[in-house]
Amino acid sequence: MISARNVRKQFRTSSVRATSLKEQIIRRRAEQSEDFVAISDFSADIMPGSTVGLIGPNGSGKSTMLKILSGILRPTSGKVTVEGRIASLLELGAGFNGELTGRENVYLNASLLGLSRLETDAAMESIIEFSELAEFIDQPVKHYSSGMYVRLGFAVAIHVDPDVLLVDEVLAVGDEAFQRKCMEKIQEFQENGKTILFVSHSLSQVQELCTRAIVLNKGVIVDDSEPEGAIETLRRIMGTDEPPKPLTLVPDGGIEFGRIFVSTPHGDRPVAAIAPREDFDIVTEVRVDDHWASLIDRVEVMAVGPLDLPLFSATAYRNDLPADSGRWWMRFSFGARMPIRAVIRVSVQVFDRDGKTLAHTRSAQVHRIEDHLAPGLMLLDHQMTTGLDDAAPAGVTAVRTGVLR
Ligand SMILES: Nc1ncnc2c1ncn2[C@@H]1O[C@H](COP(=O)(O)OP(=O)(O)O)[C@@H](O)[C@H]1O
Ligand SMILES: [Mg+2]
Repeated sequence: MISARNVRKQFRTSSVRATSLKEQIIRRRAEQSEDFVAISDFSADIMPGSTVGLIGPNGSGKSTMLKILSGILRPTSGKVTVEGRIASLLELGAGFNGELTGRENVYLNASLLGLSRLETDAAMESIIEFSELAEFIDQPVKHYSSGMYVRLGFAVAIHVDPDVLLVDEVLAVGDEAFQRKCMEKIQEFQENGKTILFVSHSLSQVQELCTRAIVLNKGVIVDDSEPEGAIETLRRIMGTDEPPKPLTLVPDGGIEFGRIFVSTPHGDRPVAAIAPREDFDIVTEVRVDDHWASLIDRVEVMAVGPLDLPLFSATAYRNDLPADSGRWWMRFSFGARMPIRAVIRVSVQVFDRDGKTLAHTRSAQVHRIEDHLAPGLMLLDHQMTTGLDDAAPAGVTAVRTGVLR
């Protein structure tokens, strides 16, 4: 069990660096020491046996938080409790002494992690074997590469039989085969009910290992949810979440997309999250000019999950659509008994009679469906109403009920 309550960490940073003694004396009084807030308010409970990812842009405070949890740093305020023996794999070489040999560092490291000399002796063979450093184990570690440091550090950490494992980035270093081995070891830890807090740049590792992820940005928790959702949040923060430009194969703005979003039933605003098995609507607007209004055969909306994989779709056919040009809106009401857990966006595609795409876009908005099951494909009952220029319900031109295929 890891528990953090209102943890705050400030670092004192001097903004002026004196270069000479004279300057030092002159500046002493003027020197400004500023408090840099690396963690503003971190509260989270991590249950025994769970694996939680901690992700965020560089400098967001991930390493600082792990150091606080491992007891290397003290929080400025707030409280942390960690039950059980902690093994932490923090920054490269932390806990190593360059002058000592690999073997001596194993003793040093293991004792820092709470292992007795005798216990370390018993584990030594296995530690060396896991690290794959037998040849180098009696050389000073200052000659080691970063990958070798990580191997040794990881080998020691897993041999102290910790209850709690804190892992910071380290799996990014080293060759792929060793990374695999570490991942397998971490999975073994999971199976044995250890508690793991895992910082990684590799979002796929986070997705593979974690059941939950906390997103830090500038020392603040901005999301704490299932990994897919958290990863979406991170991508949004980092600006790597730009939706593709609408693709229109029609000249001169003949077909343009308006608002596209998921709302509560009859709602007119996007919702961030859909509670498990809650009804919801997908609303889509397409502006169509005189020429193209008659050439559009159908408009398909599709909910797409991670990697833009389709989850479910619904289509407004020619007869469902307004006959005239203007701002078409379509509302697809899903009576969701939706046993999925996914992060979705809405993708909209406009087709002509030959099945050719006239225009295509995907919403930037992310909506989260929070059920506790695996993502997947499904069929959903839905009802549809369409109309022209907001004139609902009088302007409803079609009501159709269908089951999706
Ligand atoms: N000892 C320190 N003194 C001053 N600032 C620090 C110290 N350690 C970290 N910081 C600052 O705190 C912020 C968070 O750092 P860190 O926890 O390493 O972020 P992350 O691991 O998410 O990249 C950074 O802006 C970093 O420069
Ligand atoms: Mg870091």
